Amino acid sequence: MATKSALETQLSVVAGFENPRVELEQYPTPPTLAAHVVHVADLNGDVEGKTVVDLGTGTGMLALGAALRGPARVVGVDVDAEALGTARENRVRVGTTTPIHWVRADATRAPLCIDGPVTVLMNPPFGAQHGHEHADRAFLQTASSLADVSYSVHNEGSQEFVEAFAADEGGEVTHAFRATFNLDRQFEFHESESRDIETEVFRIEWR
Ligand SMILES: C[S@@+](CC[C@H](N)C(=O)[O-])C[C@H]1O[C@@H](n2cnc3c(N)ncnc32)[C@H](O)[C@@H]1O
Repeated sequence: MATKSALETQLSVVAGFENPRVELEQYPTPPTLAAHVVHVADLNGDVEGKTVVDLGTGTGMLALGAALRGPARVVGVDVDAEALGTARENRVRVGTTTPIHWVRADATRAPLCIDGPVTVLMNPPFGAQHGHEHADRAFLQTASSLADVSYSVHNEGSQEFVEAFAADEGGEVTHAFRATFNLDRQFEFHESESRDIETEVFRIEWR
């Protein structure tokens, strides 16, 4: 298995959103965090030979990271056509030959029916900016119906909510870790050129 830092280097060519939409919380998952999530998933046997679904794929960062680790196929879902165009271009930059299907759809009602083992990787909208606390709940709901295992990035302070949600759906949080990432100024209301975002990542076994 290649190293996490090699994966981060491969993902460093992924371009960001051209016209980021604030209402869709379009900020990119940094290569360092994407490489970390994919590497942990791979170490746990959740990538190789599996169908990996990235809900809210945006620039394709997590989908492309997974594609570099030998899955059967990758599915990237996003509601925004322009973002999917960027993801397609990023696929060329990354140069993977893994089959990738880019699907324009609402990830909270994803029209997907997939045979075989499925792993969901996602950095969903948090909802915090708009006062919609736990907008990530609907994405978790999709993961619970689609996946055997999911890895999801949430804002700081989500552990209690995620554990309770997983338990209600018959799932179990098996791993949890914190990750800080630095986000360049993305939207006009961001006051500084960059800021640190504190996140929590959870691995959930759904069945
Ligand atoms: C925080 S960004 C994650 C981006 C991605 N991981 C990346 O690195 O580019 C959230 C993504 O979810 C997408 N999104 C928001 N609401 C959605 C929905 N209901 N269905 C599908 N995608 C959605 C946004 O367009 C955005 O690309």
